[in-house]
Amino acid sequence: MRVLVTGGCGFLGTNICLYYKNKDADVIAYDNLTKHEFSRNPYMRPSARNHTYETLKKSGVDVLIGDVRDKNYLLEAAKNCDYICHTAAQPAMTISWEDPELDFSTNTLGTFNVLDVARKLDIPVAICSTVHTYGPDLINSQLKEEETRYTRIPASINEELPLLQGMVTPLHASKRCNEIYAQSYIDTYSLPVSCFRLTGIYGPHQFGGEDHGWVANFAIRSIIGEPITIFGTGKQVRDILYASDVAAAFDAFYNNKKPGIYTLGGGEPNMISLNECITLIKKITAQNPEIIFDKDRPGDLRYFVGDHSKFTKATGWTPKIRPSEGVARLISWVKENESLFIKRAPKV
Ligand SMILES: NC(=O)c1ccc[n+]([C@@H]2O[C@H](COP(=O)([O-])OP(=O)(O)OC[C@H]3O[C@@H](n4cnc5c(N)ncnc54)[C@H](O)[C@@H]3O)[C@@H](O)[C@H]2O)c1
Repeated sequence: MRVLVTGGCGFLGTNICLYYKNKDADVIAYDNLTKHEFSRNPYMRPSARNHTYETLKKSGVDVLIGDVRDKNYLLEAAKNCDYICHTAAQPAMTISWEDPELDFSTNTLGTFNVLDVARKLDIPVAICSTVHTYGPDLINSQLKEEETRYTRIPASINEELPLLQGMVTPLHASKRCNEIYAQSYIDTYSLPVSCFRLTGIYGPHQFGGEDHGWVANFAIRSIIGEPITIFGTGKQVRDILYASDVAAAFDAFYNNKKPGIYTLGGGEPNMISLNECITLIKKITAQNPEIIFDKDRPGDLRYFVGDHSKFTKATGWTPKIRPSEGVARLISWVKENESLFIKRAPKV
C-alpha cells in the first residue's frame, strides 16, 4: 500500500505517517512546512521546527516539500498512491480572522485540489473538517454551568444538529465549504470520500499553542514552567481524541470505503473540561502551573461531545485511548523532547 499524507509534517499528519509506516506501507508526507504556530508560541526553539521532518525521515517516510495549492505537483506526488489522507490546513480560528486569504487558499482551494486529484486518479481520500462547523450559538445556549464543566442533555451531538449556528468566521466558512465539496464528489463522481468533523485531538508531535492544540499547550507549559492562559471560565468541554485513534479512523475508512461526513470524537467516556484537564496534568506531572483567566474569544464553542455512532456503524471503529492514558503519553513525549522547548528560568 502507498499512502500520500498531505500536511504530513504537521501534528496529525506525522501520526498518520507513522501509523502507516508501522504497517509497512510506503508513505509520502507532502507538506509546505508553513507551521504558523512556531512563530506564535513563545517557547519553541528553532530545532522544534525540524522535529517532525527528522522523525519522519528516520522512520523511512519520504518527505516532499510541496503545497496543496500547487495542483500539478500534488497530482505528480499522488501518482501510484492507493490513498490520500488530507491533513494539510490552516487549522486556527484566530489566524483565519487575521489572514482570511491564507485560510481560503489553504483550506478551500487546497482541499478542492486534493479532492480533484483523488478523482483524477480514482483513489479514496479522507479529509478533515472540524466540529466548529456546528457554530457556537445553539450549543452554547443549551448548556448548564456546573462546578468544573459545562454540561448538556443529551450529552452527545450527532450529525443531525443544524450547522453554522451563530458567528461564522473564515475558518467556519472554509471548513464547511470543504464538507460540501466532499459531499459533491461523493454524489457526482461516486468517489470514496470521508470527511471527518474532528473534535479536539491531541498526542505526541503536537506543538500546541493558544491558537490551536490546547491539550498540548497546557502540557508543554506545565513542564517548562510557562503560565497557562485560559480564555473563558475553563469549563469548556471536549471529547478529546488521541492521535493514534484518529489515524485508526483514517485506516478504518480505507478498509470499508463507506463515504460520508462523520462527526469524530472520543465520545462521552473521553469528555473533559479545560479545568479538569489541568487537574489531570498537575496530577501526572506534580507541577503547579500558574493559571491566568482572560475573557473568552468570539466564536468559542463552549462544549462539544460527539456521537460517533454513524462512523462506528460504517466501519466498526471505536476510540481506544482514554484521556488519563493519552495525556500521560503526551506528557512523556514532551519530557523526552524537552530540549525542543525554551524553559522559563525558575523564580528566585
Ligand atoms: N488539532 C486539533 O485539535 C484539530 C481539531 C479539529 C480539526 N482539526 C483538523 O485536522 C487537520 C490537521 O490538524 P493539525 O492539528 O495536525 O494541524 P497542524 O497545523 O499541526 O498541521 C497542518 C500541516 O499542514 C501544513 N500545511 C499548511 N499549509 C499547507 C499547504 N498549503 N500545503 C501543504 N502543507 C500545508 C503545515 O505545514 C502543517 O505541517 C486540519 O485540517 C485541522 O483543521 C484539528
